[in-house]
Amino acid sequence: MKIIRAKDYYDMSRKAANIISAQVILKPDCVLGLATGGTPVGTYKQLVDWYNKGDVDFSEVTTVNLDEYRGLPKEHPESYWSFMHRNLFDLVNVRPEAINLPDGTNMDAKAECARYDAVIKSVGGIDLQLLGIGHDGHIGFNEPCDVFELGTHCVDLKPETIEANKRFFDGNEELVPKQAYTMGIKTIMQARKVLMVANGVGKAEIIKKAFFGPVTPEIPASILQMHPDFILVGDEEALSLI
Ligand code: GLP
Repeated sequence: MKIIRAKDYYDMSRKAANIISAQVILKPDCVLGLATGGTPVGTYKQLVDWYNKGDVDFSEVTTVNLDEYRGLPKEHPESYWSFMHRNLFDLVNVRPEAINLPDGTNMDAKAECARYDAVIKSVGGIDLQLLGIGHDGHIGFNEPCDVFELGTHCVDLKPETIEANKRFFDGNEELVPKQAYTMGIKTIMQARKVLMVANGVGKAEIIKKAFFGPVTPEIPASILQMHPDFILVGDEEALSLI
């Protein structure tokens, strides 16, 4: 585990974008595992900026996203499909056919999870997986649990996650989908490199628990302690307790 201290959110975003850029430069046809949430927005912004300056080229990249709300149409502004198009895909030269997300509109959970696992396998696995972290230690939508779920699966979101994400749904938790499809822990752990971004004092407690406490499925991110190439880029506040 490598921990990189950034001064602030902007510095964290630039450092994370640098690591992603290096990955794309070193292996132009790499598979990037991508994440949503507020934290990586600045990282995507920086990548778009460097793309516009001609410093990074996504023309051969394949992407696989971590998760998607179940039952939300793609066109909904808060679907992760929309989020990714708004923040990255529409702004760089990644090929539309090289973009993969779980299909939240497929209500057949078993079939959709099997399809998504097959997609990840068919692209050869993930070279670099970008992650944020939930306040309860969730990664993707792998919620605190009794066991580490392995492959793509359908989850019931915890009340705390619904509460945390309602800010994207006019502050109304009734509007937040209650289920999601998420890549599993095994798939994330099989990524050749894992890069987590975390900022703000609100993440300090969970960062300490996840990476300086026991490895347990009750704190899903804690498994990353065992990943051979895990990098955490955090700002001063998120790293303030470690
Ligand atoms: C959601 C996403 C996660 C993300 C988490 C934290 O639940 N599924 O991938 O890490 O939110 O989001 P934020 O970065 O906004 O704190």
